[in-house]
Amino acid sequence: MQESLLIELPKIADPRGNLSFIEQGNQIPFNIERTYWIYDVPGGEMRGGHAFYEMQEFIVALSGSFDVVLDDGVSKKIISLNRSYRGVYIPKMIWRSLENFSTNSLALVLADKAYDVNDYIRDYDLYLKLKTEKQ
Ligand code: TYD
Repeated sequence: MQESLLIELPKIADPRGNLSFIEQGNQIPFNIERTYWIYDVPGGEMRGGHAFYEMQEFIVALSGSFDVVLDDGVSKKIISLNRSYRGVYIPKMIWRSLENFSTNSLALVLADKAYDVNDYIRDYDLYLKLKTEKQ
């Protein structure tokens, strides 16, 4: 698993409230084509549980906390997100799930492509097979 997945975003600290931002061509290593967010997650639920053939994503916990569980077919890594100024870059072909959501957590996801059902790999055995073939 590559090490540099965690990205620290600018944080403009201010007594009136802090501010962070992401600009096209800055901070994250892809152009943003789509954004979505996950919220109202009931206790104990998980989201994701798949990989993408081509999609790259960046995930920030805008509120609350959750774990991003990453698996590259060889090793696993759990990254806990709980700050609005820090996120995880997820390259294509990484198996990932979001787990352990706190109450009222809000996951912001930026993606480099429009939603495409055919870009999903939902079968873990197929994912492992594809990863092995690539090596
Ligand atoms: P999905 O990505 O499968 O969620 P998860 O990874 O948590 O299992 O998305 C759930 C549903 O939402 C799916 O039916 C497609 C729809 N969806 C969109 O229409 N547009 C989007 O950008 C996303 C992310 C999902």
